[in-house]
Amino acid sequence: MSLWQKHAIFEKNSIILLLGIVIVVAIGGLVEAVPLFYLKSTIETVDGMRPRSPLELAGFNIYVREGCYNCHSQQVRVLRDEVERYGHYSLAAESMYDHPFQWGSKRTGPDLARVGGKYSDGWHRDHLRDPKSVVPGSVMPPYGFLEQRELDFSRISDDMRVLRVAGVPYTEEMIERATADVTIQATLDDPDVDGLRSRYPNAVARNFDGNPGRVTEADALIAYLQHLGTQVDFKLYDNKANIR
Ligand code: HEC
Repeated sequence: MSLWQKHAIFEKNSIILLLGIVIVVAIGGLVEAVPLFYLKSTIETVDGMRPRSPLELAGFNIYVREGCYNCHSQQVRVLRDEVERYGHYSLAAESMYDHPFQWGSKRTGPDLARVGGKYSDGWHRDHLRDPKSVVPGSVMPPYGFLEQRELDFSRISDDMRVLRVAGVPYTEEMIERATADVTIQATLDDPDVDGLRSRYPNAVARNFDGNPGRVTEADALIAYLQHLGTQVDFKLYDNKANIR
């Protein structure tokens, strides 16, 4: 019997064919999956990545609460049009401290993974208050109420403890200083700004909502937006070869 005739066994008997398929797919699956069990991490470490500061984390919580992810993604794909529009494609490490991750798949508005530093705080204030005032055709809803509401950060250290369980490397000192760090970063009326920066390198401390003395939800959200995509120095990681 030639090889081709032997193959007829599969072609003529559906149960044997099914078993054959299961075996071949299982081998393929094992080849893909087994190496991953032996890797310590599938995420490459990247210089510059740090956990979010408590104020940025509070902003992240507001972003999730308000459902901004329903219209915005946070992942620049490895495609030329995306890289030309938004900047360097996203690295896995950039979202490793996000729980839940905000990659998203729906883009009613643009991707926000690299929005940090693109606009001034004042632009964000105007845009959140009334998106049409800065982008006339915008369909984004207004969020002006955020600057009226005091930020409730009484439980921010609990949030950090929970994230620590999920693998975010918050230290005991960071957790103890959390509420103080929120006020420092949002109002700057505290001399310990160096302490904040030693815990969270490159953290930007300023009065984000233009309203000194009060820590509002807008302060937290703008601090979060301004920090998005700014942590990694892409001069070190520029790799155009990956772009399709
Ligand atoms: C109904 C969909 C929708 C929702 C919900 C939404 N946005 Fe938008 N967003 C848009 C659209 C559309 C644009 C583009 C027009 C504009 O700039 O206003 C946009 C633009 C933006 C921009 C400017 C991006 C850039 O690069 O120009 C930012 C920042 C932003 N949104 C933040 C937010 C935040 C924060 C939230 C949640 C509080 C939010 N958006 C909720 C639709 C939405």
